[in-house]
Amino acid sequence: MTLMKAVAQRSLGGPEVLRTIEVPRPSPRPGEVVLRLRATTVNPVDWKLRSGRVTHLGPPPFTLGFDVCGTVTEIGADVTGFRPGEEVFGMIFSRTGAYSEYVVARADSLVPLPSGLDVAQAAALPTAGLTAWQALELAELQRGERILIHAAAGGVGHLAVQFAAMRGARVIGTARAVNHDFVASLGADTIIDYTTVDFTAAIHDVDVVLDLVGGEYGTRSLRVLGPGGRYITAQDSDATGDPRSRQVTGRPSPTDLAAIARLVVDGRVRVHVDRVMSMADVVAAHRLAESGRIRGKLVLTPWPRDFLCPRRGVSNMGTGT
Ligand SMILES: NC(=O)c1ccc[n+]([C@@H]2O[C@H](COP(=O)([O-])OP(=O)(O)OC[C@H]3O[C@@H](n4cnc5c(N)ncnc54)[C@H](OP(=O)(O)O)[C@@H]3O)[C@@H](O)[C@H]2O)c1
Repeated sequence: MTLMKAVAQRSLGGPEVLRTIEVPRPSPRPGEVVLRLRATTVNPVDWKLRSGRVTHLGPPPFTLGFDVCGTVTEIGADVTGFRPGEEVFGMIFSRTGAYSEYVVARADSLVPLPSGLDVAQAAALPTAGLTAWQALELAELQRGERILIHAAAGGVGHLAVQFAAMRGARVIGTARAVNHDFVASLGADTIIDYTTVDFTAAIHDVDVVLDLVGGEYGTRSLRVLGPGGRYITAQDSDATGDPRSRQVTGRPSPTDLAAIARLVVDGRVRVHVDRVMSMADVVAAHRLAESGRIRGKLVLTPWPRDFLCPRRGVSNMGTGT
């Protein structure tokens, strides 16, 4: 049996529950491919699953990681369109996620890596890009409409601002002052510093709200909608049940992902990688991501070649087992 490194957790908890362990290298089942990891990311869903704030992977042990860019090493039965050696990227959703040296992915969730897109950018795009793209589809955002995007500087938000501007909408974003130049550079017309200004007092008659904060932002956001306004949230909020409210769930779509990647390659959309960290520093990466202060995306690359992976257990914390 060939072993590989993977980040796993045996219990729910803080970033320190993440451990690099050795596990059997996976084989593809029909419809699947195995990739050698080039890059993945930390999404909020990773730290929410790690801590137990969301539970849709079931109880641990599991391996996190929903974005992947990698090199195809093996293809399963029935898989056509990919060959070993090819670079691909996409969104996966499984209990054996992308925080591992070799990643199992459904072939129908992947697209070839186009030239002009580097591996960090490719890993940064799937979950954030698909969620932003599909949210605007769900909202049926029209040219000339006004959209308020909460958390405009984040992974989903910074792409949603650009997609909305490309659709000809007028974009209002919320962000701390330190991110205003960044959000403006993405095409937002108005930016509200949510730490000093109550957005419900600053704007009204908005056509669409894309809520990437949730919670009590829900009913407050409903108050700024005009007639025919739509509220789209990417997570639970207190607006659930209101007829104007819809929840978006980013889902794998090679068609959407290829379209998004093309926009990046053509220079029409910018994917901002805040920083690239090694999987050896996954604990620190989760701490940073959970702080809610990442601008754009935090990308993780595989462990250094000589990263120690002792036999029984295995820690990236230097604490033994
Ligand atoms: N349903 C789905 O399929 C789906 C998919 C992806 C994400 N999501 C959810 O959508 C949310 C956003 O995801 P993400 O990946 O964009 O997160 P993220 O990248 O971690 O967001 C970080 C950004 O949030 C901003 N922020 C934090 N608190 C804020 C507030 N109160 N108002 C405005 N901005 C605030 C920060 O900007 P400042 O420093 O300027 O505050 C930072 O740039 C998360 O809750 C995530 O779980 C859901």
